[in-house]
Amino acid sequence: MLVPGRELLQYAVERRCAVGSFNTYNLEITRAILRAAEAKGEPVFLAVGRGPLMSAGFSPLASAMLAAARDASVPVAVHLDHSPDVATVQRCIEAGFTSVMIDGSQRPFADNVALVREAVQSAGGVTVEAELGFVPGDEDRSGAHDTGIPMTDPDQAGRFGPETGVDSLAIAIGNAHGFYNGEPHLDFDRLALLAGRSTVPLVLHGASGISDDDLRRCIELGVRKINVNTEIRYALFGALQESLAQGIAGYDVTKLFDAAIEAMQRTVEEKIEVFAGAR
Ligand code: 13P
Repeated sequence: MLVPGRELLQYAVERRCAVGSFNTYNLEITRAILRAAEAKGEPVFLAVGRGPLMSAGFSPLASAMLAAARDASVPVAVHLDHSPDVATVQRCIEAGFTSVMIDGSQRPFADNVALVREAVQSAGGVTVEAELGFVPGDEDRSGAHDTGIPMTDPDQAGRFGPETGVDSLAIAIGNAHGFYNGEPHLDFDRLALLAGRSTVPLVLHGASGISDDDLRRCIELGVRKINVNTEIRYALFGALQESLAQGIAGYDVTKLFDAAIEAMQRTVEEKIEVFAGAR
């Protein structure tokens, strides 16, 4: 069932767990994510970035995500990930998205606040996420990233919720999109400070490549939404390469993605177990 993002944040706050946000690009990935959520009986954010939405064709992909969410037996919020502009936020809300992210994290604090306030005002009550500090890396292409990028300032995090009216806040604590060079080193002391100051639930982006133990620690310290993308794409490419190498009889497209969907579903289920289990 399609639900407001705020409902899922509330669910996570009450249970002291995190709800997973998983990025899709097409029907097959959407299917894997929602099958995993249904198998685990847990809610999820079904997320899509602005780039993939536009390259797939806005209406076909948005409509498919919304239809799949409505059909699901678990609560699903359809979420716009990392929009740099309010126009895309508005377009997604008009289409029926129940959660959006406006990303002004590369702007100075005051500009970020102004952009997020504008997005919140135009969202008409739809759940809005923003980012403070900068999570490096490309959301759609994996490279390995070093950290060392400006992290979220706890004082600014404390002001951000009241000054913008935002529903949740993505933070930078040494996390990055895509796989990491070696072990990621998250700044848990900073996370504890951020959780103490922020008036809204915290979001961790860039979960691919972060160990389950570190993810559990983030949840214990107050992260309530965790974003995963690269590990799903990694599972997709690996399984697809194997399927293609083995050959699919009769060029049967209906069988082509079976193994890949199963592999992606397993990946998402493993994440959901970690996110939901750390209660
Ligand atoms: P990863 O690709 O590192 O899992 O990050 C996903 C993400 O944060 C999407 O916004």
